[in-house]
Amino acid sequence: MCGIIGYTGHREALPILLGGLSALEYRGYDSAGVALVGDGICTVKRKGRISALREALATVELPTACCGIGHTRWATHGAPSDGNAHPHGTARLALVHNGIIENDGEIEAFLRQRGCDFVSETDTERAALLIDRFYGESGGDPVAAIFSAVAMLRGAYAFGVVFADFPERIYAIRQDNPLIVATTAQGSLIASDIPALLAYTKEYYRPDDGVLAELTPRGVRFLDAAGNTVTPRSERVDFDVTAAQKGGFPHFMLKEIYEEPVALCRTVRHYLGADGLPRFEENGLDASFFSRFARVHIVACGTAMHAGLIGRYVLEKLAHLPAFVEIASEFYCREPLLHSDDLVILLSQSGETADTLAALRYAKKKGVSTLAIVNVVGSSVAREADAVLYTPAGPEIAVASTKAYSVQCALLHLLAVRFALCRGQLTKEEARRICDTLVEQMPQRVEQVLARAKQIERCAGMLQSAEHLFYIGRGVDFSLCTEGSLKLKEISYIHSEAYAAGELKHGTISLIEQGTPVVAVVTADHLAEKMLSAIREVRARGARVLLIVTEEIAARLALPCDDMIRLPAADVLCAPFTAATVLQLLAYHVAAGKGLDVDKPRNLAKSVTVE
Ligand code: G6P
Repeated sequence: MCGIIGYTGHREALPILLGGLSALEYRGYDSAGVALVGDGICTVKRKGRISALREALATVELPTACCGIGHTRWATHGAPSDGNAHPHGTARLALVHNGIIENDGEIEAFLRQRGCDFVSETDTERAALLIDRFYGESGGDPVAAIFSAVAMLRGAYAFGVVFADFPERIYAIRQDNPLIVATTAQGSLIASDIPALLAYTKEYYRPDDGVLAELTPRGVRFLDAAGNTVTPRSERVDFDVTAAQKGGFPHFMLKEIYEEPVALCRTVRHYLGADGLPRFEENGLDASFFSRFARVHIVACGTAMHAGLIGRYVLEKLAHLPAFVEIASEFYCREPLLHSDDLVILLSQSGETADTLAALRYAKKKGVSTLAIVNVVGSSVAREADAVLYTPAGPEIAVASTKAYSVQCALLHLLAVRFALCRGQLTKEEARRICDTLVEQMPQRVEQVLARAKQIERCAGMLQSAEHLFYIGRGVDFSLCTEGSLKLKEISYIHSEAYAAGELKHGTISLIEQGTPVVAVVTADHLAEKMLSAIREVRARGARVLLIVTEEIAARLALPCDDMIRLPAADVLCAPFTAATVLQLLAYHVAAGKGLDVDKPRNLAKSVTVE
């Protein structure tokens, strides 16, 4: 959802800006641009990927500048085009923006009345011209101009601004959108996310909403709207630049799938105490917390919401705790009835998803307890929730989420065990056995799935030429299908639907015709016979079935199919994890086999910071 970068220091700015934009390209990639400040402001921007911007930069004479800002865009206001690309501005200033200004119509009217005209369709240009207007009125005071402008804006934004009159300075301010600031011996930087800074530093500041950062080559000062100096807490990441590189894999997505065994093991170990049971006391969640709730609502978007479906399953099965899963945007729009003994869990890889943040704020307004499960330390959802548990998955760069989903599922298992202990649904011995399986056996079995990648790649061939297909399963397998189907749609552009196997016959089976591929997931032993019926029904109508099944079920029951991927023999607890990895690899190989840009699928962005 747009990436912004800025540098002011002792080195040439352009290579640093382009390197930062490449690291942020996962946030949006329909156009990109930079503004270099030296003797005036030189702006170059192009529709397309950063490679198109590089080509454009090679054709113009550029000033040598040690200060500049850059942007990679995911279009909201106005189509992807050279004109709508950022930066926007005037001869006096240039602005990059991530987010949406909701009252841009009002701002436009205000500016038109004062004689302004616009060259783009973007809300960003309106914001830039507003700052410019106040800059003029204030007699050239950037701080006063920015604070006056943001006082008129509604919506979510992170801004980076440079002024021709102050060629060494960058100003940055945010409201409900991510923005980090760092100072190093070589200069000062702003960025939307950590990967853009990792080549220079692991330490950074995350200013609060409404705090203005003024960066110079020598450092940064932070000011609140009243003009007081404030000092945000400095934060540090615990991964280095190699974690955000492909490391020999053709795509980040494949690398991230291969990181799952380690990430799963790390996640489970992180939350296990010396007694082999889940411990959340260090996160402020003690026994009284786990005995307080009568219901849990898991609220999230996209892949994280699908991890929530797995969480619902284990919370109900292990802890006998009623659990509901809701799409975040529907949660706050539907305005559900919440009770004082409800817990709302917000699941999010980035912790910046605007819909999830809005759902969190809705829950807090209703006075119910909120718990965030996020991957990015210090992100907005993490900061605003009553409590937070981090998933130590490491950075996830590919737009399609894989390892973050798997570790969310693992952490939800541990939470379910903890709830179950408090509610007397599991003995300590039973709980310890589950945790042992999760920490020892489960990551190993996922590793075994990766060793079968060649076979999965071969099976992907069966789906590659499909126009549409179905994923079917029952119970937890249906939940897995929702994610398998989303993964395929996101990156291969093949239309697919996840269907509860029992529901297919109530209408949608009419879409099955000769040759329609159906992926059937069968890991739940007690539901295998019922899946047999569903598979027979679709095969009788011409479907070609790819079966994903546990060794145990395959040995017991002859399920008819056209091809089969067996999940390694394991405790039943491992099946959702091994099946998830198979489904991710399947989607990956379909998309990679079609020669598509797996890491940056069309129209998507990794972190969607608009509602
Ligand atoms: C976007 C991404 C999805 C992701 C969803 C939730 O829509 O394209 O891949 O699952 O956001 O992201 P989050 O960071 O909140 O988990």
